[in-house]
Amino acid sequence: MSHPKTVQDYIRTIPDFPHAGILFRDVTTLFQDARGFRMAVDQLLSPYVGARIDMVAGLEARGFILGGAVAHQLSKGFVPIRKKGKLPAKTIEQDYALEYGRATVEIHDDAVEPGQKVLIVDDLLATGGTAEAGIRLIERLGAEVVGCAFVIDLPDLGGRARLEAMGVPVHAICSYEGL
Ligand code: PRP
Ligand code: MG
Repeated sequence: MSHPKTVQDYIRTIPDFPHAGILFRDVTTLFQDARGFRMAVDQLLSPYVGARIDMVAGLEARGFILGGAVAHQLSKGFVPIRKKGKLPAKTIEQDYALEYGRATVEIHDDAVEPGQKVLIVDDLLATGGTAEAGIRLIERLGAEVVGCAFVIDLPDLGGRARLEAMGVPVHAICSYEGL
């Protein structure tokens, strides 16, 4: 008897992308499958059904696809946290470390209101640098990050521990040990 596929079964692994030795976890094969995409969105938001969430924030780029769907399903608004230079109105920015060098993300300074409870969504948690920058932006606007939800956790890279040390609970649908 064949078993029903899990979210992880829809994720494709590409060796040596973008660099030799990296196993790239490709969620396009999850998103393109109607059942897989629905399962992923349902499982991402399931811990937050009935919780107080005022806004969903997505991290560019794949966090937009998931975060938009989560916001719609929870009947909440969606705000984008974007790479620097893409948002048209007044922003605040936060820089963070990449594997090589640094990057900067931005949010509109009126995207969330002080006291609001925000759920951050992205596809993958690795070092946690991107999510930490997102958390800092939300907190600098006076709002509270009540959770970070990911499809994939790479626990060996320490992101979960890093976000939990900031007091932010982490939810991930599946994880890959090793790199
Ligand atoms: C990837 C992934 C996460 C982030 C995780 O995004 O989608 O956003 O890296 O890494 P971290 O936990 O070490 O910060 P990437 O920066 O490649 O950009 P993209 O989503 O726009 O493709
Ligand atoms: Mg990303």
